[in-house]
Amino acid sequence: MTHAETRAIRAFQERFGELPSLRARAPGRVNLIGEHTDYNEGFVLPIAINRAIWVAARPRRDRQARLIAADFGEEAGFSLDELRPGGLRGWAAYPAGVAWALEQAGFRLPGLDAAVAGDVPIGSGLSSSAALEVAFAIAWVALGGHTVPRLELARLCQRAENEFVGVRCGIMDQMAALFSQRGHALLIDCRSLETRLIPIPEEVVVLVADSGVRRELAASGYNERRAQCEEAVRRLQGRYPGIRALRDLSPAQLEAAREELPELIYRRARHVVTENERVLQAVAALERGDLITFGKLLNASHESLQLDYEVSAPELDTLVEAARSVPGVYGARLTGAGFGGSILAVVQREAVPAASDVITHRYEDRFGRRPALFAVEPDEGATVHLQ
Ligand code: GLA
Repeated sequence: MTHAETRAIRAFQERFGELPSLRARAPGRVNLIGEHTDYNEGFVLPIAINRAIWVAARPRRDRQARLIAADFGEEAGFSLDELRPGGLRGWAAYPAGVAWALEQAGFRLPGLDAAVAGDVPIGSGLSSSAALEVAFAIAWVALGGHTVPRLELARLCQRAENEFVGVRCGIMDQMAALFSQRGHALLIDCRSLETRLIPIPEEVVVLVADSGVRRELAASGYNERRAQCEEAVRRLQGRYPGIRALRDLSPAQLEAAREELPELIYRRARHVVTENERVLQAVAALERGDLITFGKLLNASHESLQLDYEVSAPELDTLVEAARSVPGVYGARLTGAGFGGSILAVVQREAVPAASDVITHRYEDRFGRRPALFAVEPDEGATVHLQ
């Protein structure tokens, strides 16, 4: 039994006096490549990681939810009959939003008692919030005796975050938490929501370095980027009437229309259209075992996020540069929304100790503190365990 699972069960037992009737696990994710493309209906390539949120729960006869956050010693509660978008703040807004979205879709839910614990660092760009949503979604669906297809669950969790919590996230994180398989990355077409599993070669390690930077700005910066992408589409529809999202545009088409866009909007769009191409090239490289090309595409993704999309930070750039300076590191880039959070490096197994050492010391020299470093394994998506 993993640690977080044990913590959730113990907290449940202490608070509610018996064992939970069910446990649900939903993993965090590291996005290998395809950043800020999901809400442009493009391509992404995340892996679910062997770090997860666990929910231990039992149903109630009434419509109350009592929730314990074992890792913070906090308790929250709400009634399923009084849920309203924007009406709750803090971590409980995620489970409440999920319950709200499920009921809006016609799935009547029972109240529940639950304890949550996890080892996905919060606010580090590894999707602890999607993991929290998905863990509660599958727990609640099971307790309610419903069967909901995973694709619908992904959409409902996204809706919970968009409309109830108020963050305009795309669908990558929820899809990764639900559809991933051990040893594989998940290629997602964020328009059709078709997925394809891409095996990750045994000899590589995905190393994560968390800068520890948490920016309040992140949500507003994220929503601003989304609006800029929408503006690019609006302005380009005169010339290309068929386009619905930046997904529909090739780099050549964007170049041909460059004059029609303000410089900033052009650069935002250039990131997205080139990133979509990089994802498909990265998948092809992985499939032919060409890790050198795969790593270069990761590096190019970071440059594009740094210079065109402007969502990097000096801390992330330092981590990325340090990682790349080590022989045996194929490539490195920021992962997740950016502004702070984590980078990933794709590293030859033998080079992991050297890479860890160099990344830690370079970062410490410049910023006076150490990044949190850990290797992750591509893991399977969410699971429910009945007692
Ligand atoms: C966050 C969002 C995702 C995605 C990434 C950027 O993780 O939740 O939907 O947009 O940022 O790629």
